[in-house]
Amino acid sequence: MMRPVRLAGEQLIWGEGCLSHLATLEGKKAAIVLGGHSMQKAGFVDKAVEYLHQAGMEVVIFEGVEPDPHLSTVKRGAEFMLKEQPDWIIGMGGGSTMDAAKCMWVFYEHPELKKLSDFMRPNKVPPLRKKAKYCCIPSTSGTASEVSRSIVISDDETGAKIGIGDMEMMPDVAICDPLITSTMPRHITAQTGMDALTHAIEALTSTRAHFLSDVLATYAAKEIFEYLPKAYADGSDLNYREHMLNASMTAGLAFTNVSLGLVHSFAQTLGGMYVLPHGLGDAIILPYIVKFNYADPHAKAVYDKLAAEVGVDDLAKAITELNEKLGIPKTVAEALDTTEEEYMGRLSEIAIGALNDGCTKTAPIIPPQDVMEQLAKQIYLGE
Ligand SMILES: [Fe+2]
Repeated sequence: MMRPVRLAGEQLIWGEGCLSHLATLEGKKAAIVLGGHSMQKAGFVDKAVEYLHQAGMEVVIFEGVEPDPHLSTVKRGAEFMLKEQPDWIIGMGGGSTMDAAKCMWVFYEHPELKKLSDFMRPNKVPPLRKKAKYCCIPSTSGTASEVSRSIVISDDETGAKIGIGDMEMMPDVAICDPLITSTMPRHITAQTGMDALTHAIEALTSTRAHFLSDVLATYAAKEIFEYLPKAYADGSDLNYREHMLNASMTAGLAFTNVSLGLVHSFAQTLGGMYVLPHGLGDAIILPYIVKFNYADPHAKAVYDKLAAEVGVDDLAKAITELNEKLGIPKTVAEALDTTEEEYMGRLSEIAIGALNDGCTKTAPIIPPQDVMEQLAKQIYLGE
């Protein structure tokens, strides 16, 4: 049975300069959560603080969220929130920062929760928004955490990436200002853009896909095929940046409702075992899984339809060509800092991890473990 659709939180705003929307928020105190220093260096944090002051709010800042954020960082952030008592939490940065801030929000609202498993299935995220609302300001065009119900947080001891999805965690406000993405370095533009394309393509073949997710995901995929190479070649062009940020957000609206597939299952599993940025993993793995899914007649029809709309003959080939333009390697072997022997010794671990990933549930084909191992081998070695 179809699940009810949820498109973003209370407010979704986009376009150049829309950061100023912060000045309209109502509250007493905002806590801005940041990753590295790029947002400060570009002057975006000062601007955000200025707008929040215009809104009459006091502003405090929690910084230092690392890529692939750890639960310990999230817990430190939640302690900070408990001390500062903000009524707005504002995650400003890439997917890691927005996910970490989203998770800080959950622990801040409910200090009785101690571990991620306390609000993972079969448990639920308890009602939020008794203390604060959550606002996202993305600095990349990829994860779409600003319009998603999901977080991915790393376990401190094992490094395993734990994904949790619950509509209660949908950010209340998403501010998608292309200016904020304009200083993104080229390789991040490429990797996060391919994450967004993977969201669109996996949403299209999700077993939960419906007409509205199809409309959103098709639009996003077409836009990304056109504008990602342009934004990669000239990141200073705000028009390209705006198309990419809006496409990423649109793909997010689709996938957060219908979920994803095996590309994310493998990328998340490998990302927990090795150092592999999420978007880079998606980009490398995507053409292999598209080819694999050709065996499913419905998935093949979906891919062929999208290929026709994009104006290419073969979707998998078009993705490989796009990766080449973006300087993305062809195999996982080229991206991982490990030996072939070590990787091949862990094939069953990779296959089982990917099979157990939540994204596998909606894949058009759910293969048995031996086939998953073959796929794990193929993405490492290439054709
Ligand atoms: Fe993703």
